[in-house]
Amino acid sequence: MKVAIVGAGMVGSATAFALVLQNAVSELVLIDLNAARARAEAEDIAHAVPFAGSTVVRAGDYPDIAGASVVILACGVSQKPGETRPQLLGRNAEVFRAVIGRVMEVAPGAILLVASNPVDVITQISTTLSGLPPERVIGSGTILDTARFRWLIGRHLGISPGSIHGYVLGEHGDSEVLAWSSVRAGSVPLAAFAAQVGAALTDRVRAEIDHGVRRAAYTIIAGKGATWYGIGAGLARIVTAIGRDEQAVLSVSMVEADALGVPQVALSLPRLVGAQGVSATLWPDLDAPETEALRHSATLLKEMADSVPL
Ligand code: 2OP
Repeated sequence: MKVAIVGAGMVGSATAFALVLQNAVSELVLIDLNAARARAEAEDIAHAVPFAGSTVVRAGDYPDIAGASVVILACGVSQKPGETRPQLLGRNAEVFRAVIGRVMEVAPGAILLVASNPVDVITQISTTLSGLPPERVIGSGTILDTARFRWLIGRHLGISPGSIHGYVLGEHGDSEVLAWSSVRAGSVPLAAFAAQVGAALTDRVRAEIDHGVRRAAYTIIAGKGATWYGIGAGLARIVTAIGRDEQAVLSVSMVEADALGVPQVALSLPRLVGAQGVSATLWPDLDAPETEALRHSATLLKEMADSVPL
């Protein structure tokens, strides 16, 4: 499996590194406007190959994308301390207007995997610009927020995050929805399990977890300027689901024909991901406030998407 990464900044490079450590793909091509940066990252990451497998890692230019099964788009600018994701929209929309056409010229059969923020709107723009069916243009969406949610719940309960089943839905951003009502520890509803292990989910605990998920990026960006390891691992997870045709349930973004009455809007829901991209969406059971919050998130995303001239 050949994968190309457009944008060899921290997110693109962390993704490449995660893929190399998992020996998940046969060939990785890194592309960046700054060709020297792409070459340096590719060489540094290639030096990890002997410890992990046999991935061919190299820097390249757009023609080198040809034959890629997945093209990861991690180009453009990232948030500065205090900046929100939507504040990046104008600048990153401009970048994607230039990039998508060049990718489609050389790799029209690839699945596009969008990482740049605001990721839902950029996914929607990429879907329109590429002319690809929505299921082949996937945004990383809330895959990372879901990981943060599971990690914080797991830590509170003393249980592996992999055994927590729950999702963050809607925008990858401030209006995202933590779907508390459907979370399970193993197969046990969350509140029941929490009571069983004497770690009650009080309003204060829930508020702390909500804050920890929703504000994670702001906190990390304030401390080190950007986030990259979590999203790099999340993007690698999506690539392996595609590469192995796993039909894995992952919360990723995609243009939805109708999200609770909001037409044609990209947002995250749990979706089946495999070799053809997204093959199905698994609408979770939500309570009334969660449903309303998700509709609100979809409405905000739709307004943002409609504001972008294409
Ligand atoms: C994150 O959530 C900044 O969107 C990025 O880590």
